[in-house]
Amino acid sequence: MKKEDLLLQIKGIIDKGLPLVSNLSNVSSILNKLEDINWCGFYLVKEDTLYLGPFQGDVACTVILKGKGVCGTSLLEKKTIIVEDVTKHPNHIACSSISRSEIVTPIIKDNEVKGVIDIDSPSINRFNNEDKVFLEQVAETLSPLFK
Ligand code: SME
Repeated sequence: MKKEDLLLQIKGIIDKGLPLVSNLSNVSSILNKLEDINWCGFYLVKEDTLYLGPFQGDVACTVILKGKGVCGTSLLEKKTIIVEDVTKHPNHIACSSISRSEIVTPIIKDNEVKGVIDIDSPSINRFNNEDKVFLEQVAETLSPLFK
């Protein structure tokens, strides 16, 4: 399915009246329609630390400190990070031995990172600028759901 259609589905399914976990669970299911990925989901910020949120894929690490791993770096730097080859990235936290490349996009509200979207692929160099633009649109769409 095309990214534009996934974004439309996300816009159509989210409901501000629902608990955040309900919305993010369904969004993780929609993101899981992206091709050639083995994990997608959310880490949510609580007191400057990331905690595992709704996701699709194998069991993952539950706590990531700010500045640690790709997710913690995205939290710290408030920007999307693309890792072409996780085995060559010094600051990568390996949750799954299958993952070879990764993209992480922060969800920002009122200039604060509220969480990150994390997607892993079993292929090297899976993510490009088009994925970055898409995930930043998803993050912007989800931002109003956060307190
Ligand atoms: N690889 C991430 C950890 C989370 S898993 O990919 C699900 C990182 O380096 O932050």
